[in-house]
Amino acid sequence: MPSDAILRIEDKEYKLPVIVGTEGERAIDCRNLRANTGHITFDEGYGNTGSCESQVTFIDGEAGILRYRGYPIEQLAEKSDFVETAYLVMHGELPTPSQRQRFSAYLRENADMHRGLYRLLEEFPPDSHPMAVLSAAMNALGCYYPHLCTNNHERDLQNYEEASAVAVSKVRTLTAMSYRLSKGLALVHPKRNLTYCENFLHMMFSEPYYDFIPEPEVVRALNLILLLHADHEQNCSTSTVRMVASSGANLFASVSAGISALWGPLHGGANMAVIDMLEQIHAAGDDGSRFIEAAKNGKARLMGFGHRVYKNYDPRAKIIGRACDSVLAKLGRKDPLLDIARHLEQAALKDSYFVERKLYPNVDFYSGIIMRAIGIPLNMFTVMFAIGRMPGWIANWREIASTSKARIYRPRQIYTGAVKRDYIATNQR
Ligand code: CMC
Repeated sequence: MPSDAILRIEDKEYKLPVIVGTEGERAIDCRNLRANTGHITFDEGYGNTGSCESQVTFIDGEAGILRYRGYPIEQLAEKSDFVETAYLVMHGELPTPSQRQRFSAYLRENADMHRGLYRLLEEFPPDSHPMAVLSAAMNALGCYYPHLCTNNHERDLQNYEEASAVAVSKVRTLTAMSYRLSKGLALVHPKRNLTYCENFLHMMFSEPYYDFIPEPEVVRALNLILLLHADHEQNCSTSTVRMVASSGANLFASVSAGISALWGPLHGGANMAVIDMLEQIHAAGDDGSRFIEAAKNGKARLMGFGHRVYKNYDPRAKIIGRACDSVLAKLGRKDPLLDIARHLEQAALKDSYFVERKLYPNVDFYSGIIMRAIGIPLNMFTVMFAIGRMPGWIANWREIASTSKARIYRPRQIYTGAVKRDYIATNQR
């Protein structure tokens, strides 16, 4: 048993229990702090706050370790695929052959969409951002499955297997369909004989008169990208999903909120921002050196670098960085942006500004280069992240939904506004 922490406030001492996780992480349990001391903790940005106990993902940011359900990300990247990893993340164990078959059947049966959802997508202006469309469409999706979203966690959990498969399958279809509709292309329906990633590429790039047959390397690369995004413990969007779920909200409403949280450039939107940045550097004839100086002087931000948790190389960036070379080589492509990215990385890793602040490439630094090579349009990069992250959001929703006596998430604040004052009539202001 770990010893308690002692907190002294003025002349009084308080004992606070210490909690230890299965990987030895330690936390001071503050749950009774306000009741016992009248004080709250203040931790803007939550950098020191454990908001929950979770069994889904373990990260050691100092050592650059990421594991889903105990399995190292490197092993999953090498041996697994997105569907199997999604099952692992959402259900806690790697599937047996029959579980995998059943899950795949669910994904297949739920691959196509209700006409009403097509009409919903059609009504968005063609230039709408795919993240806005996806967030709205995922929430609307629940309306087509009222038995899966009753806002009664006990009942919703009885259908978890179906609900989780519907969300994973449909997020891909909604993404591909909204792309086609935004471009005015004919609709291409999913095919039963294709795998999850093949079907995505088919819906994106086939035509009614022509079947797009992707290179196996492209399918593998897509699996890799999605798998590496499958979960990342209590990041901004996952915490948002848990926040919404804590009110009793259903799975579809909760993940829709997660999509909105992911959209911002400091989170999932960084993968688009990286390519924008690399294109600007390229257009300016810079090899990255001038940009590094601008980032150091606070005039620019090196997108795809830095992480709240990783103070070491993001293990996902290592895997994607290596995959960039092999995917481009196998597709017989060259991308000048990859050369700039490599140069930026080498320069930053030697530069004291980045070294002292422990700023390393994160998952977004190289993922965009692979997505470009696959043919995914730039404005869809963040929705690709959302497809990948869906299993993690679902697993975290489930943890909240299945916690009996779960409390609604409701942080406190330190008020710094005006003290009490009296109302001033309009003519006296
Ligand atoms: N370029 C230049 N300086 C940076 C960068 C960067 N990318 N990131 C952090 N810094 C500096 C920052 O200015 C600060 O310097 P100082 O101590 O002199 O004020 C110091 O490093 C600490 O930064 P911070 O902003 O306090 O760190 P944070 O933990 O609040 O933010 C971050 C983490 C990811 C938002 C930030 O590093 C960043 O904006 N990176 C670029 C955006 C990005 O790539 N986001 C994707 C994150 S990974 C995918 C995901 O989970 O969404």
